[in-house]
Amino acid sequence: WMSRRKLIAGNWKMNGLSGALGYFSELAPVAAGASADVLVCPPATLIHAAVQACAGTGIRVGGQDCHAQDHGAYTGDISAAMLRDCGATHVILGHSERRAAHGETDGDVRAKAVAALAAGLVPVICVGETLAEREAGRAVEVVARQLAGSLPENSAILDLVIAYEPVWAIGTGRTASAADVAAMHAAIRERLPDPLTTCILYGGSVKPGNARELLSLADVDGALVGGASLDAADFSAIIEAV
Ligand code: G3P
Repeated sequence: WMSRRKLIAGNWKMNGLSGALGYFSELAPVAAGASADVLVCPPATLIHAAVQACAGTGIRVGGQDCHAQDHGAYTGDISAAMLRDCGATHVILGHSERRAAHGETDGDVRAKAVAALAAGLVPVICVGETLAEREAGRAVEVVARQLAGSLPENSAILDLVIAYEPVWAIGTGRTASAADVAAMHAAIRERLPDPLTTCILYGGSVKPGNARELLSLADVDGALVGGASLDAADFSAIIEAV
């Protein structure tokens, strides 16, 4: 048995101007004393500055998406190599907001994950069912299908992170119950090519007040935090709940 180090990741989504960088000086002492790894995924425009602000702190910086190609005629897109070039170590892929608003399929997510790994980034692959799917009793089936389609085929030897984010819990203040999270994380773990070492994060309305309970569940190796990651004090409290 090998213990997985916990990871607390923040997804700023489309939030943050350069004035937000003072955040990292607030976060640095917390990250230094933390028993978890800390990752912040700001918008692409802030990655380079965030990497500089985090130098020597141990805080990792990641992207929120990348293109599946390395370079080329893809106006508006950013490649994994570009993220790596400006100091990112991770990239969130297949977030439900991108699956819904940009029509990303499992195959797209897999292609992006392959590109991320080739560029030396750790993909944070998001999966999660909608409320209608959960109410129809299909949550595990949906997540299993997303995993089967989104993970690179030889992923047993690859460094990747899974984030389980039930769509109905994102930005709603509603979290899945501890029992549902535990059951889904166990179901995900048994479907992973490398169940012992792969980190599985929970995401969806993680806040200082519920972090301790969620993070204490057996197969929960950390959190992917949206709204509460925008506030350094809230995000710090979540890191300290580990
Ligand atoms: O990627 C994290 C996210 O989707 C969860 O957002 O605001 O519910 O914590 P939030």
